[in-house]
Formats: sequence, structure tokens, C-alpha cells
Amino acid sequence: MTHNVTLLVGDGIGPEVVDATTTVLEATGVKFEWERFEEIGESALDKYGDPLPKHILDSIGSNGIALKGPVTTPLGRGFKSVNVGLRQKLELYANVRPCKSLPGLKTPFENVDLIIFRENTEGLYSGIENLDERLEIVDSIARITRAGSERIIRFSFDYAETHGRRLVTIVHKANILKAAGRLFLDLAEEESRRHASVEMNDRIIDNMAMQLVMFPERYDCIVTTNLFGDILSDLCAGLVGGLGVVAGANIGDDCAVFEAVHGSAPDIAGQNKANPTALIRSGEMMLRHLGEVKAADAVHDALHGTYADGEHLTADVGGKCSTIEFAEKLADRVSGLV
Ligand code: NAI
Ligand code: MG
Repeated sequence: MTHNVTLLVGDGIGPEVVDATTTVLEATGVKFEWERFEEIGESALDKYGDPLPKHILDSIGSNGIALKGPVTTPLGRGFKSVNVGLRQKLELYANVRPCKSLPGLKTPFENVDLIIFRENTEGLYSGIENLDERLEIVDSIARITRAGSERIIRFSFDYAETHGRRLVTIVHKANILKAAGRLFLDLAEEESRRHASVEMNDRIIDNMAMQLVMFPERYDCIVTTNLFGDILSDLCAGLVGGLGVVAGANIGDDCAVFEAVHGSAPDIAGQNKANPTALIRSGEMMLRHLGEVKAADAVHDALHGTYADGEHLTADVGGKCSTIEFAEKLADRVSGLV
């Protein structure tokens, strides 16, 4: 069987980590028909007059699945993030980000195994900003809805139960954002009653940030609103070796887009030194989503073997390999396992 997958190359380190990832995924023997798009963001704006052109949305809609490199968003001006646009337009409401220690990789903690479930379509990313230029006042609206909160909370409890996880922690700021916090917490309590095998607790976001850098082993699944999830994802990436190693999936009812947590890393773009592990692990999540369990296990085992050996790693995790050298060594290992 051949899988039709939309491939969004992105910009910055996107082309490098995407090529590395397709090399590794193809080594599993699974057949892919990549529908490849070079232009998205700035380059699509130049070419098509739209940073997120309709043909990309149509492709993901019809394939139901995409693998995506990072896309740069201009700061404080310019077009709206296409990363956020994709998630909202395709209703990819669950952003799932597993942060798990890799063998052999020296970090302050050894056995971190966290999954962040970030609400992916609303909150402070609703795109509602009102600027009164005369008074120089900006209102940025953090819209929280019952429907939006319900679906991410349900998704995370269902995931925890079906994957044998023990605890879901609700992260909020209900002491200050009382109405939004109450809505989120009430829905979580209601959902938790349907999942006897999963415990639930809650933490205020600032305390949670401290807890995670001191006692990450006390936590398991974390479900939270959009901005808190964004920030905690990078924090948790820091616990397990950095942004070069943390994968992500944007999941909706109709389609899914797999992308790393990191951005386009302009500081190292074009130098063949980015770590493609994060996108390769996102590719492993995509294989599982496609039901290609054996291939996903091969990618997982090959990555663990490579990190445990520590000989062929990229610079961000203390190695000397280039992006593509790392990927080729890993691909050899994968093909030996399938
Ligand atoms: P970033 O994640 O691109 O980079 C942060 C730091 O981590 C940099 O020092 C970078 O070199 C390093 N890093 C990131 N990925 C790495 C990798 N694979 N291997 C080795 N080192 C890596 O975040 P930053 O600099 O805040 O944002 C840059 C751009 O990326 C912005 O335009 C932002 O909007 C965009 N962005 C896009 C995302 C997406 O496409 N989903 C997600 C996050 C940011
Ligand atoms: Mg982020």
C-alpha cells in the first residue's frame, strides 16, 4: 500500500530536516507518494499572493495527512502565522508533544516521560487584537470556548487511558483568569469521571513551570490552553536535550499534520547542522497514525540505538555529524531492522 502524504518543506532549517526525515522514513520500506510543496509562508506570499495558499489546504484535506517543516513568521508585523493558520483552518485542535529522555543523552534528568496536550486553535492565538492607535492601547483577546476546551480535554483523557498513562495534570491560571480557568477546570473534572484508570490533578501555570524543572518525574500528561502549552513545550524540550529532539503532532477529526516543536532556526539555517531528530520522531508518530507500527518501531529502536552509542550525533547534542550524515547513518540502521 502507498501512503499519499502532503510534504511541506518550510523554510530556514526546514528543507534540511525534511530531506533527512524522508530519507529515514523511506528506509523503513513503507511506500510514500509525497505531494511536495516548496512554497509556504513568505515564499508563497511572493509567488501566489497568499502565505497559506488554498492548494496546500486542499492537498492536506484530500490526503488527510501532512509532514511539515517549520515556517518563519515575521515578528510584530506582516502576515499571520501560517503554522497557526493551518491548525485553525483544518481544525487540528490537539497538539500532542511527547518529551521523553533519550538513552545516552546527558541532561539534568534521566527518566523524563511527559506528554503535553496543547489546545491548538484558540486562546491567545484567536487572532483577535484591537489596537487603539490614538490611545496606544492594545487588547489581545484570549478566547476560550466550551467546545474548544471540551475537545482537547477529552482527547487527552482518551489518549491517557488508551496508552496506559497514570495521570493528567490540568494547567491553568484560574486564580487570575477566573472565568476561563473555571470553565477549563469544570470540564476537566467532568471528563475525568469518565476515566477511572487515570488520575487527575491541576496546577497553576507559574508553579507548574517550577515543578517541571525540579520534579519532572512527578508528572505524566499535561493538558493546557494554547499559550501555556507553547511555552511549556519548549521548557520540556529543555529537559530532554533541547528543541532538536522533540516531536509533535497536530491532530483533528479529519486530518493530521506532523511537525517538530522547534521553529525555522534562522541562526543555523543552510549550514547542514540542524538536528533532524525532532522531525524524524514526528515522522515516527505519523507512521503510527498510519498504522505502520513495525516501521515506527524500527525508527524508534534505531534512534534509541544511535543515541545510546553516541557516535553519530549532531552538534546540538554533542556530536560531530551533519544533518544528512546523521540521517544516512540512521537510515542504514533502520533498514537493518525492518
Ligand atoms: P526556533 O525553535 O527556531 O530556535 C530556537 C533555538 O533552538 C535556536 O537557537 C535554534 O538554533 C535551536 N534549534 C531549533 N531547532 C533546532 C534543531 N532542529 N537542531 C538544532 N538546533 C535547533 O525558535 P525561534 O528562534 O524562536 O523562532 C524562529 C522562527 O521560527 C520564528 O519565525 C518563529 O515564528 C518560527 N517558528 C515556527 C514554528 C513552526 O513552524 N511550527 C514553531 C516555532 C517557531
Ligand atoms: Mg513554540
